[in-house]
Parts: sequence; C-alpha cells; structure tokens
Amino acid sequence: MRKVGLSLTGQDIKCIEIPAGPCGFVVFGASGDLVRRKLLVSLFRLFQQDLISEKFFLLGAGRKELSNEQFRKDTEQIICEKTKETSPLGLEQFLSLLYYIDGDYREASFYDNIKAEIGKLSQKHHANDNIIFYLSVPPFLYPEIVEHLGSSKLSCQPKTKLVVEKPFGKDLESALDLNEKINKCFNESQVYRIDHYLGKETVQNILMFRFANSIFEPIWNRNFIDHIQVTAAESDGIEHRAAYYDQSGALRDMFQNHMLQMLALAAMEPPISFEANSVRDEIVKLLKSIRPFKIEELDNYIVRGQYGEGIINGEKIVSYKSEHSVSPGSRTETYIAAKIFIDNWRWKDVPFYMRTGKRLSGKDTEIAITFKKSPHSMFASMGFNEIPSNVLVLQIQPKEGILLDFQAKRPGARKCMSTLSMNFNYADLFGTEMPEAYQRLLLDCMLGDQTLFTRQDSIETAWSILTPVLTIWENSDSKPVIYPAGSESFLQADKLIESEGHKWRKIGD
Ligand SMILES: NC(=O)c1ccc[n+]([C@@H]2O[C@H](COP(=O)([O-])OP(=O)(O)OC[C@H]3O[C@@H](n4cnc5c(N)ncnc54)[C@H](OP(=O)(O)O)[C@@H]3O)[C@@H](O)[C@H]2O)c1
Repeated sequence: MRKVGLSLTGQDIKCIEIPAGPCGFVVFGASGDLVRRKLLVSLFRLFQQDLISEKFFLLGAGRKELSNEQFRKDTEQIICEKTKETSPLGLEQFLSLLYYIDGDYREASFYDNIKAEIGKLSQKHHANDNIIFYLSVPPFLYPEIVEHLGSSKLSCQPKTKLVVEKPFGKDLESALDLNEKINKCFNESQVYRIDHYLGKETVQNILMFRFANSIFEPIWNRNFIDHIQVTAAESDGIEHRAAYYDQSGALRDMFQNHMLQMLALAAMEPPISFEANSVRDEIVKLLKSIRPFKIEELDNYIVRGQYGEGIINGEKIVSYKSEHSVSPGSRTETYIAAKIFIDNWRWKDVPFYMRTGKRLSGKDTEIAITFKKSPHSMFASMGFNEIPSNVLVLQIQPKEGILLDFQAKRPGARKCMSTLSMNFNYADLFGTEMPEAYQRLLLDCMLGDQTLFTRQDSIETAWSILTPVLTIWENSDSKPVIYPAGSESFLQADKLIESEGHKWRKIGD
C-alpha cells in the first residue's frame, strides 16, 4: 500500500497550557516502580516547563527509613538516567522541593506525622491547602490509607485531592466496596482515578478528531460504518509484574479499563462541552448501552487465551506458566478477544471487535474504523468486483497518527487501481518527543480538571459488564486456549470475527 503524507497548514488554535498554582504532593509508596519510572520524571518535566510553580513541595511517604538527602539523591539518579542528562536544567531547584517521611501505613501516628509535616511544608513553600494524596501502593492498601486520611481529617479541605491508580477493584462488588470507602472520606469531586491511557495525546486526539472535524460526524454511525476493531497488542510479556498479573489477567488489567475507555471515546455521543462532567456523562452513557454478554453463548462473544512457548524476533520465549512467580497450573488469561454490540440508535448491529494480548507478534494499539463497501461497483467490467473498503485508523501507540485508506487510479494502464493511505504521523509534524501521559494527568489533577480521570459510575458500569463473564470463567473448569508466543491470533479468536465475514487487521499494519 502506498502512503501519502500530510503537512501542517493554517495556524494553531489556542495552544495554551495553564500552569498549576501552589500545591503540595504527598505520594504513598515513594520507593515503588511507578514513582521511580513515571511520577518523579513527569513532575520534573512539568517543573522544567514552568508548569509547576515554586510554591510546591513533594512529600514521599513509605515504609523504608530514608533521609530527605537520600530521597533527593535517589531522585537525582532516576531523573538523570531517564532524561539521559548529567545535569538537567532546574534539577537542583526541583530536588530542593522534595522531602521524605517514613512510617507504617496501618498506624494512625503515621498520618499524624504526615499532617504535621504538611503543615510545616505548606507554610515554608506557600503551598496553600491544595494538597494531593497519591496512592502508588498495592491496591490492598487503598482502603486502609483512605480511612486513615479520613479519620486524621487530612481529607477535609475542599481543595484536597485523592489520586487512585488502577486497578479500581477486581470485580463489581470490590469496586463498589472501594468506592464506598473512598466516598466516606472524599467527595467524588476530590477523587482522581487514573487510567493513564486517557493521558496519551493520541487518545485525547480521538475527541478532537471526531468533534472538531465536521466531515466525519455525519458518517460516524451504522449507516456508513461496517465495523470497528480496537486492538491493544503487545509483544512484551508480564515483565516484573507476575505476582500482580497472575491474580489479574488481561480482562482486568487491560479490558475493563483501557479497552473500554478507548471504545467509549470512539463511539460516544458528542458532549455538550469539553468539561469534565459533560465528557464523563457521555462515556458512562455509552458504557451503559453495551449489550450484556449472553452467558449461554459466551464463546461466540468473548474468548481468552494464554501464551505458550514460542519465538518473537528470533528469541525463544518461555510459556506464561513457566514465567517466574506464575503458578504452573495458572488459568490466568493473557489474551482477550470480544465482539461487542452497542444498543443505541447510532450503533445498532455494528460489531465492535476488541482484542488485547501479550506476547503477540508485535506491539500495536489502534482503533480501526472500516466503512461500508460501495453499494455498486461501476468498475466491475474492468475486473474490480471487490473494491476494498475505506479504513480509518486512529493509531495510539507505538505508531502515533491517523491513516485513511482510499482507492485511486494509478497512472498508465486503463485497468489500474491502488489502495493509498493518507498518513498523518505525529512525529513527522510535531517531533518525536511526545509528552508522557502522566505529565498531562498530573498537571490536570493539580489544576482540578477531572476530564481525563475515570468517574465512579464509569468504573462500576464497566465492571457490571465484565463481572458475569469473570464469574462464569472462575467457576467453570474451562481454561484459556494456549497460543504460541509470537502469534497474531488463534482459531477461537478468529472464529469470533469471521462469523460475520470479517478478518482481524494484521498487527502492526
Ligand atoms: N508500575 C506501573 O507501571 C503501574 C501502572 C499502572 C498502575 N499501577 C498501579 O500503581 C500502584 C503502584 O504500582 P507499583 O508498580 O509502583 O507498585 P510496587 O512497586 O509493587 O509497590 C509500590 C510501593 O508500595 C509499597 N508496598 C509494596 N508492597 C507493600 C506491602 N505489602 N505493604 C506495604 N507497602 C507496600 C512500597 O513502598 P514503600 O516501601 O516506600 O512503602 C512499594 O515500593 C499499584 O496500585 C499498581 O497497580 C502501576
């Protein structure tokens, strides 16, 4: 297929980034993977861009005994490694805003100490009462920490915020329970549930693309769209997350959150404004329109797989069950394919094929919209009976852009037609450095903008769709299908899409 490029024309419309005001940031689990890999570097980037003011402090909270100096030294090392710079601009100033406090998450005295420290630091750094508590600890600790934040009255100030990392529960019941505990201490307007996919530029662009271009909206429905495929494929395995992943699996880890949120953005109705609750209302409305899976015909609508041994890029890959810390009899799924229908006026009977998996042939996250074929081929007499459909692909990662496949006459012979691909690539037009999703989300949280954070009813609706499936799988003897690492798909996943005469798109196309 030939590719046609795009260029930037016209003027940027309002590229304004509002800096955060005074703020104190308290992160629980300060020695953890997420803090080290993402949060500290993202905050530092915001600081470098003057989006965090000097009226800021970060208080790392954890179990380990650590001095402020040691915490700053560790942070310096992390930032230098990540930025690949020996002395990044502004680092010294940023480090001087960091503090550390140790204690036991189960003890009330820890929260008293945190409260006293916040009081001192807020005064010293003029951080006002805009205090953010970030839970970057294993989820079993969320209820305990939240309850202590409530009983120590740390949650009381109206500007105080609570950031919760996924997973938000492991099924409907646990999500309701967690939300109830959170709601006892915090108002929903104080709660920021992070699904980092929503912070990606390419995911946010789904809304801009759909609702800032009037040519697409009239055809964005069952009259013109044949089907939609949502893919999140990874060639990576479970890395160092085996203990967590084996308790979770692809349905909980990817499908309940990232996949359903991408589906919602691609299919929802236009919100009345780009305000948090307008956007989130439409997301919930869309999720509520998803047709429940027919339990008696589950295999026709959702299937699961688990990777066996295989080869990826010439490298031998061990099976999931042989991974370190995975139980040898594990029935945890590493792949999900599902066919979803949305029962509303716009999407009635349009299939949405969704798949996500680990140890597949490539890494590729995209939403591909296949339009209906031309109703009549006037080129049939020239031998073109089957003209390929137009396909619009919203590429999320690692390719970041938009493709539109269309047909065109090739010069020369009379009977000559090609599929061309109009191609917008972020890196070509805006450079290769895309901001880290966490930068966007952390800044929005400091600014009090909840648009890109998942609301309680959205989480509960997503779980209400998937909990019956989990219950069936967990209470039956059935097991995931084993697929060789490095494959694209497997028979049962193919059958799910081929039953309507469709095919999965090639991963990485
Ligand atoms: N890592 C990611 O890329 C990622 C992505 C999405 C969501 N998340 C979510 O973000 C949260 C943090 O993830 P993470 O990967 O950073 O987790 P982690 O490295 O396993 O743990 C984070 C920190 O929590 C504390 N902790 C761990 N086990 C504990 C225990 N049994 N009792 C008390 N404290 C304990 C430790 O901090 P101290 O020793 O300092 O107390 C640890 O460094 C999790 O909820 C995870 O699901 C992570």
